[in-house]
Amino acid sequence: MNKNTILNKNNFSKIKKRRTFAIISHPDSGKTTVTEKFLLLSKVIHQAGTIKSKKSKKYAKSDWMEIEKKRGISVTTSVIQFSYLKHYLNLLDTPGHEDFSEDTYRVLTAVDSCLMIIDASKSVEKRTKKLIKVARLKKIPIITFINKLDRNTYEFIKILDDIEDKLKIFCIPMTWPIGSGKNFKGIFNFYNRQVFLYFKDFKTGHFTSIKSISIIDSFSLKKYLSKTEISTLLEDLDLIKSYYHKFNQKKFLQGLETPIFFGSALNNFGLNDVLDGLIKWGPHPKYRISKFRKIYSTEKNFSGFVFKIQANMNLKHHDRVAFIRIVSGKYIKGMKIFHVQTKKFSIINNAMNFVAGERFIINQAYPGDIIGIYSKGNIKIGDTFTEGENIQFSEIPKFAPDFFKCIFLKDSFKQKTLLRGLKQLSEEGVVHIFRPMVNTSLILGVIGNLQFDVILDRLKIEYKVLACYKSTNISHIRWIHSDNIKLLEKFKNENYSSLAYDYDNSIVYFSTSLFRLKTIISKYKHINFLKIK
Ligand code: G4P
Repeated sequence: MNKNTILNKNNFSKIKKRRTFAIISHPDSGKTTVTEKFLLLSKVIHQAGTIKSKKSKKYAKSDWMEIEKKRGISVTTSVIQFSYLKHYLNLLDTPGHEDFSEDTYRVLTAVDSCLMIIDASKSVEKRTKKLIKVARLKKIPIITFINKLDRNTYEFIKILDDIEDKLKIFCIPMTWPIGSGKNFKGIFNFYNRQVFLYFKDFKTGHFTSIKSISIIDSFSLKKYLSKTEISTLLEDLDLIKSYYHKFNQKKFLQGLETPIFFGSALNNFGLNDVLDGLIKWGPHPKYRISKFRKIYSTEKNFSGFVFKIQANMNLKHHDRVAFIRIVSGKYIKGMKIFHVQTKKFSIINNAMNFVAGERFIINQAYPGDIIGIYSKGNIKIGDTFTEGENIQFSEIPKFAPDFFKCIFLKDSFKQKTLLRGLKQLSEEGVVHIFRPMVNTSLILGVIGNLQFDVILDRLKIEYKVLACYKSTNISHIRWIHSDNIKLLEKFKNENYSSLAYDYDNSIVYFSTSLFRLKTIISKYKHINFLKIK
């Protein structure tokens, strides 16, 4: 720690009570249901069904955009704060659709841990694999919840093998199911050595009441479980004891092992174990790396970085909100904060936090919390805010998009509005805009195909611009970089028709096939072709 850094010991008790995490899962694993049950457990909402149901087309409190309401999916990352056992939990939602947007990468820069949800009837799925890969690269601690035990499931050991095999992380069972599907009876908790039994309410079809019995109380167990169920449970426990080692918090915090919890979100069981685990073992906000030094959460001065920008959250006001993850110090209403990139101070009176999708003006916030501040367009993703210190948190990378289309106006008078809309969407990270060097067309690049629909919908709803696409033969782009100006100029002259500028005027190379890209890369050895900017 820098010797000039002033610590604020008073903040530490608040910091220790913060958990900032994201849920990552494959679509339909139960992320929305889990979120809803967390909010029920924390009494933020009082009735199930407040969060969207896909069939009824109700929408999640955290879904802000029209397209999300229409499709019943969460396209953008939303933030929910709730309290549980005197702790404050900041849950950052990640897009639930199959398309893999940069939003997900960015949200992982703003959390301290992740909750991975796995559907027990499907085991590890494609999208989970992709997301966990990023979380593992960032060494983010991962807690696992194996959901939908009330359905026919894979063999539990096989699910754990699958996790270890596909996600390259050691599994440590913290709870263990007793039966599954129709025969689901409850869960054994390794830590308090209790068996939690669940009973099916025949009216609702849901498991409701919970009874907890010590594992050594065989007399009581026999009242609720058959002989076979008890002996299977004891055999399972023996197997687990010999096969899996004991939970090691240090290894969990290093992202090397994941504690495993079982349950059924829909039936509201098993999730309290997850939250208890998150509070007991999950990391509180510690530090973030900046260009010049580590910034500790316990430092007195406020600092934070922008990981998300959301335009037009309120269509009436056409506002734009920058989401800041607080790294250190304390936000106090009316404080003066310094925007490092523009070198400007401003007084912030209306920072918001988000509880189940509603916004509230707040008086104070601590490290780990997410605050939203209004932006006039001068704040960008990755920007740093401090009380005056000139630090810069590690930049949030931009990833080369995978899908490309040319965008055209249906109404040619609205060119300026189209550009304004695209500029704002690009600042949010929804789209990459490229201007080819040889003509005036506008090429859009996205990481997930669904983004194209989102863009047209948002241009229509938020900017009243009707646009359409034409396909392009571009298949790959790379940002071009070289310290050798002469070679760079030579490359540019020889490949002029395949070059374009991105939104920040950096040069990109367009290729029509992977083969062509590889050929060019091997031809121009002194040029860096970057997939990540
Ligand atoms: P997602 O956000 O990850 O996409 O999943 P979501 O919570 O929307 O859940 C997907 C489906 O799985 C929903 O059913 C939901 O009710 C169901 N589900 C979630 N948890 C459980 C569970 O523990 N057991 C069972 N049996 N089902 C579960 P749906 O029919 O697609 O939608 P809905 O009409 O019920 O909302």
